[in-house]
Amino acid sequence: MIDHSTIQRILDVADIVDVVKEFVTLRKSGTNYKGLCPFHDEKTPSFTVSPSKQLCKCFSCGKGGNVVHFVMEHEQMTYPEAIRWLGKKYGIEVQEKEMSAEERTHATLRESMFVLNEWARDYFSDILRHHVDGVAFGMSYFRQRGFRDDIIKKFQLGFCLSSRDSFVKTALAKGFQTEFLEKTGLCYRTDDGRLLDRYWGRVIFPVHTVSGKVVAFGGRILNNDKKLAKYVNSPESEIYSKSKELYGLFLAKHAIVKQNCCYLVEGYTDVISMHQCGIENVVASSGTSLTEGQIRLIHRFTNNITVLYDGDAAGIKASLRGIDMLLAEGLNVKVLLLPDGEDPDSFSRSHSAHAFQQYIDEKQVDFIKFKIELLKDDCGNDPIKKAGLIQNIVHSLSMIPDRIVRDMYIKESSSLLDVKEELLVTEILRNRKEGKEENKKTNPSDSDEHLPLTQGEPIAEHKKILISSEEENLLKVIIKYGDKYLFTYEEEGQSIQCSVAQFILGDLSADGLHFSAPLYMKMLEEAAHLDCKETDHISLSYFLSHTNSEMSQLAAEMAEDKYVLSTEQSKGFVSDEKRLDELVPRLMHDFKGAIVRKEIGELLYQLKQPNVVSDSEKCMEIMQKYKELTMVEQQLSRMCGDRVIHRLS
Ligand code: CTP
Ligand code: MN
Repeated sequence: MIDHSTIQRILDVADIVDVVKEFVTLRKSGTNYKGLCPFHDEKTPSFTVSPSKQLCKCFSCGKGGNVVHFVMEHEQMTYPEAIRWLGKKYGIEVQEKEMSAEERTHATLRESMFVLNEWARDYFSDILRHHVDGVAFGMSYFRQRGFRDDIIKKFQLGFCLSSRDSFVKTALAKGFQTEFLEKTGLCYRTDDGRLLDRYWGRVIFPVHTVSGKVVAFGGRILNNDKKLAKYVNSPESEIYSKSKELYGLFLAKHAIVKQNCCYLVEGYTDVISMHQCGIENVVASSGTSLTEGQIRLIHRFTNNITVLYDGDAAGIKASLRGIDMLLAEGLNVKVLLLPDGEDPDSFSRSHSAHAFQQYIDEKQVDFIKFKIELLKDDCGNDPIKKAGLIQNIVHSLSMIPDRIVRDMYIKESSSLLDVKEELLVTEILRNRKEGKEENKKTNPSDSDEHLPLTQGEPIAEHKKILISSEEENLLKVIIKYGDKYLFTYEEEGQSIQCSVAQFILGDLSADGLHFSAPLYMKMLEEAAHLDCKETDHISLSYFLSHTNSEMSQLAAEMAEDKYVLSTEQSKGFVSDEKRLDELVPRLMHDFKGAIVRKEIGELLYQLKQPNVVSDSEKCMEIMQKYKELTMVEQQLSRMCGDRVIHRLS
């Protein structure tokens, strides 16, 4: 947890133009700056940065916010990560919680391993470029595969000499300790105690974390000697867990966000060749089946994934189960089968990016359809086999967390399988129920954690609820002017100043009302706790620098429009701030009116239901409520404008 004052300090010094410029070419345009949006593909600039407001926004895709949100979105970081990133850029120390001695040792060990790996990466790529043998063997291997120079550089490829210990010797001479040489797996000890290079005579593929640190290496032999393993990879270590990394993600993440889609391939060379061809939103599972951690990683960047299969891949059927996991995570999964004998590597060497992309767009099919068509052929007319297939599909369908998506697939599957929708629905329900029970047995403490009954991606609570514009308008004044002085009232002989937020909170609770979004309620309560100020109010900056990133994001969105709350006539003449005493009660009134109207609407709907129509008692009851509510509504309308707030000051 980073404390509020540190965040404030960073926001004070960080300059949004300065930060955005690191990633986007900006041109001055009036008082603002403009550039091509980094969050979606575009040809004319709609990404605007305002130095005076310290905000940015794309007027085409809507992404943006303050400087922290920009870094979060662009670098795909969490809120604390972005704060730390900015702290580093501006030389502000970010206080973290104290580490224990054990944690410190562990952190130092990891740090040392990273330092060694980074040095090794540079060493291998230096050998590839400048050493006679590196050029003669390594470089000519890549050349022969058709890898361009810029691509070799981008992927930081390298070569390890064939004498069994030249890397060890150089590393030791550089002062690296044997402990780390072994722990990173760059070297290994033989039975007779010698220290040797793990990757001797191989070309090197560094493996990066999502933020670009080198955690591992893959080394490929130069020939196709069947007696030797084609690849040798780093062992698991304190910094490397194979199941948690995806090859190429570091270089793909921006493209994945931009295209809002991720292609999944098998191997290192598939990723590299696709980049060379011009398709950059691609990652590799490195030959193993996908893990939950890897899927979550992809899900941080997109909801859409297309799995690219070799035309002749015998392993397709075996990999189908892995795809069920993608569905369970709430991802939209598509599958692309390449022509016979082609893999993504060969296909991208014989096609332009445009042709490849077109092929993908035309040929990819949704996973359920792909699976049904793949397995249907095996069934023939055998009813037992067909039942098995239906169960298999039901299993996949019941993994899909989103009900609307699931329903869509049920319809499609029902027609493809030629079975009734109802049958699929009952089977799926049973499956999901069993899944839940099983889950409880194995994991009683957090039973819902692993069961995909909810959207995989945690959606901000306030985005799930349909929020009325009346409620949003209130939140806007709370964020912008929550602590601003509204009026003074007398209580037990004392005059007490009441702020905007305090008034709203008091008025809501007097009527037993609350906002529909818990987040909004929390923000109201916090605003009501701020000191009431007539001038120099701090509400907006308080929320902009809030440690809760949902709150600060909302604040950034709301801060943008100046006169949203003004009526048409007053637009541009009187700022909201100057007429809060008229504005706030009116917004409260509108909010209550909206609630009443919604309830009236619901009653009218109930009145039309067949079971109510036939039940005269129930009917009367609803009519009574209806009468009461319309009276409230009339009262509210009469009150409109009547409300007087006494400004005693
Ligand atoms: N792999 C591995 N060890 C092996 C074989 C494969 O770790 N002995 C992993 C590698 O990450 C490899 C991926 O599985 O990239 C896919 O294997 P394969 O298709 O055989 O390798 P390619 O990367 O396509 O290599 P190439 O095109 O050079 O044959
Ligand atoms: Mn290959």
